[in-house]
Amino acid sequence: MRLDSGSHTSSHGTDDLLTLRQPDDWHVHLRDDDMLAFAADYTARQFARAIVMPNLDPPITTAAAAAAYRTRILDALPEGRRFTPLMTAYLTDEIDAEEIAQGFADGVFTACKLYPAGATTNSASGVTDVRKIWPVLERMETIGMLLLVHGEVVSPDIDIFDREAVFLETVLAPVLKDFPGLKVVLEHITTDDSVQFIETASANVAATITAHHLRIDRNAMFEGGLRPHAYCLPVAKRRRHKEALRRAATSGNPRFFLGTDSAPHQKHEKESACGCAGIFSAPTALESYALTFEEEGALDRLEAFASEYGPRFYGLPLNEGTVSLRRQPQDVPGLMRDGDVQVVPFHAGETLAWRFSGRES
Ligand code: NCD
Ligand code: ZN
Repeated sequence: MRLDSGSHTSSHGTDDLLTLRQPDDWHVHLRDDDMLAFAADYTARQFARAIVMPNLDPPITTAAAAAAYRTRILDALPEGRRFTPLMTAYLTDEIDAEEIAQGFADGVFTACKLYPAGATTNSASGVTDVRKIWPVLERMETIGMLLLVHGEVVSPDIDIFDREAVFLETVLAPVLKDFPGLKVVLEHITTDDSVQFIETASANVAATITAHHLRIDRNAMFEGGLRPHAYCLPVAKRRRHKEALRRAATSGNPRFFLGTDSAPHQKHEKESACGCAGIFSAPTALESYALTFEEEGALDRLEAFASEYGPRFYGLPLNEGTVSLRRQPQDVPGLMRDGDVQVVPFHAGETLAWRFSGRES
């Protein structure tokens, strides 16, 4: 990573240029149809690869569906964009281990995603009891295929702010006990409990951290009124948890790495009596992480978090090119539109100190 201070001048005064090895996004929702056409390139312009979530309606449960979705993603990007969508299989109670293993062997599936049924957007066909997929997990452990986990229990008896911590104890720990060699990514962690879980787990267990959970705590949802655009799942927790995430992300521990969980929804579906969960952070993802790392005095650790730890954990090569961010004020729009699609992005209406300035190669 290079940080060139004061080596350029611009209309905004002295620029700092932050140059990083080309990063990847290890958890993103690109959607389908009009929303895909709107959203996909925001991810593809900043990231070389992304782990694409399979929670479409219907979900991606076969290699054929994943291959077709990958083609739709690539078709939605501008000519010449170099971007590799890494596809995931949506685990259901009935999923066939053979289909998963074949898709993995054929290079269609990179990983499997476990959604506890009912935990989040389009998770109705998810797993009702993790014991039902024991044979699949066994097979994945054998072939070295990663399990990506939405780590929340769904029981209405469990307070929504406790669902992640309870999941660690009642689901993830037993899975790891029976499959000690299974590679697991605990996605979009939101609690100090998860930070500690990862810190004390064996080396085959890692976590992704979103840009937004590093910046908002649960108060953001209630600031002067109900704020649906700060609502996502897992829901943001109290401030001390956000602080634990900030420490973990900037610690230099390779088992915490970047995954935006950028999850666009139509404005009217968020601003509703039963609003959808999800924050659309893709347009300024790297800028947002840079703000946090700078505030933590850890800009020199952003590159490893964004571009090295993820591919190493996944066993994939590091990217060769670079991207740059310039220290230049950037006004984030309050609303983004494209035809019938209207989305309120993360940081809407704010001025950010950094601006993505492109890929060098
Ligand atoms: C995601 C979505 O909208 O698909 N929503 C979210 O709040 N993160 C699903 C998910 O990752 O939980
Ligand atoms: Zn997600």
